[in-house]
Amino acid sequence: MSPLIAPSILAADFANLQREVEMLNSSVADYIHIDIMDGVFVPNISFGIPVMQAIHRHANKPLDVHLMIVNPDNFLEAFRDAGAEVISVHYEACTHLHRTLQAIADLGAKPGVAINPHTPVEFLTDVIQDIDMVCMMSVNPGFGGQKFIENTYSKISRLKDLILAKGAKARIEIDGGVNLQNAPKLLAAGADVFVAGSFVFNSSDPVKTISELKSISQD
Ligand code: DX5
Ligand code: ZN
Repeated sequence: MSPLIAPSILAADFANLQREVEMLNSSVADYIHIDIMDGVFVPNISFGIPVMQAIHRHANKPLDVHLMIVNPDNFLEAFRDAGAEVISVHYEACTHLHRTLQAIADLGAKPGVAINPHTPVEFLTDVIQDIDMVCMMSVNPGFGGQKFIENTYSKISRLKDLILAKGAKARIEIDGGVNLQNAPKLLAAGADVFVAGSFVFNSSDPVKTISELKSISQD
């Protein structure tokens, strides 16, 4: 099966956001990945709700929102209202993760959980049946353009086993350092969705790069 592709708008030209969103609309991308950073959970600040609303006004792809923020509960409704289809919160930022996931579902969005590179996939054992997506960080969150962490492959296999054992429907999304070299191996390990920021936006033909990522096979 071909992977789903979620280009990360973090790597776009923010001075030409409408043009960038229209480029993604014309591509075979399945989602637009929206990275929200608060300068507290991660050592960087990206953009907030008004920018996401502007993206939503022009996007014809579903918005996949990755909240790298503390206290995400305070903002779930605002992000839903700004057009989020998937809302992923960080495992490491949620004291009452189950409650937060329930709140996302009650708002009519799809709940996701993002996990840092050091967080074992086994920590999701008791929520995996309640979520649509696991956003597995393959870099430390906070910045685009970082080097892919190799340990990710074994985490994907272990998470796939957990999903199958539980009869869960969660998709495995890989976020950070994804490119055409590692994507086939990630797909073979069990990944369903690829986030790609710099690899797409720094390429000479982003629409073609998205198609190439989408058409990889497991070899
Ligand atoms: C990192 C973000 C990623 C980032 C990916 O904190 O969550 O989504 O934009 O960018 P690349 O593909 O450049 O690693
Ligand atoms: Zn992300």
